[in-house]
Amino acid sequence: LSRYKVAMVGSGAWACAAVRMIAQNTSQDDPEDEFDDDVRMWVHQGGELVDTINSTHENPAYFPGIPLGPNVIATGNLAEAVADADLLVFCAPHQYIRGICKQLMGKVKPGAAAISLTKGMRVTPEGPELISQIVRRTLGVDCSVLMGGNIAEDVGREQLSEAVIGYYNLEHAQRFKKLFQRPYFRVTLLPDPVGAELCGTLKNIVALGVGMVDGLGMGPNSKAAIIRQGLLEMRDFCQALYPSVRDDTFLECCGVGDLVATCIGGRNRRVAEAWTRSAVEGAEAGEGNGAGRSWAELEKELLQGQKLQGVLTSNEVQQILRTRGWESKYPLFTTINRIVNGHLPPHLVVDYLEGAKADI
Ligand code: 13P
Repeated sequence: LSRYKVAMVGSGAWACAAVRMIAQNTSQDDPEDEFDDDVRMWVHQGGELVDTINSTHENPAYFPGIPLGPNVIATGNLAEAVADADLLVFCAPHQYIRGICKQLMGKVKPGAAAISLTKGMRVTPEGPELISQIVRRTLGVDCSVLMGGNIAEDVGREQLSEAVIGYYNLEHAQRFKKLFQRPYFRVTLLPDPVGAELCGTLKNIVALGVGMVDGLGMGPNSKAAIIRQGLLEMRDFCQALYPSVRDDTFLECCGVGDLVATCIGGRNRRVAEAWTRSAVEGAEAGEGNGAGRSWAELEKELLQGQKLQGVLTSNEVQQILRTRGWESKYPLFTTINRIVNGHLPPHLVVDYLEGAKADI
């Protein structure tokens, strides 16, 4: 009997939480026993970290104190991680996916199915390209997405979390559901893969806005206003680019669910709060907009090797808005982008209609 072999491409906090659920499911004795027990995980740093994961079954660099499972086998060799895999799970920061896929061209098993857990997009002169589209185009495999309000550490602690699998191929999606679903991790299927993936991507921009509101010392009313406007712009942007995106998707856990989780407890919010405090202090010291600590510095200090997605995504989305002449239709996205890049002071986040009109 041949069983589906699984590979995890990534080893950050979310990849660790996800591989832990997968490993729990693949090692379970169920009558169908569809999956091979062992799950390979690619660790880009290789070397010592690989040895540590394989001997302690934990990833101290990104997911300390939470066991991954004895059947997770780490490797520093990407091609080796995916060799023979029938199910490929992509969960690396979005800026690295294209490079990873290029290295994997011709190395993936024909007929394999992929799923992306990565939130982000790429912008080319021809237009936007979603992470799942990069996987599909470069590797020639079907690619679903798994999206939701899933702060990695909370999933690792087995706290109730929800996710959707956005899919094109129902059979693959059902198989992936079996791979991820746990009593504490509720998975539903959603036939709107583009809407689900774009929600997961765009909410990172809104989270920056909420972090700015926190950094300015404002309370829940102002944050709610930013979240509401953010959700509206998320919907309008998705449907302007892809008219097939459904309204209902925004009420799912990949829409409002992920938005709320990230705006309460995500890294984008946290780093944006610190950045805003520092920017305000810099401005008060007479150093002008853009003074204070840099995003890169704060990412390094606060995220300890994890990557901030929102600033890159804001710049990527803004490129699309600028090219299409849509900036005034998305005043919150536009104002956040101008603040992030030091062109406007942070307090304009709550005055986004003015911010989007500003002559910069
Ligand atoms: P952050 O990257 O802001 O931590 O968001 C996490 C997330 O996507 C939760 O679903």
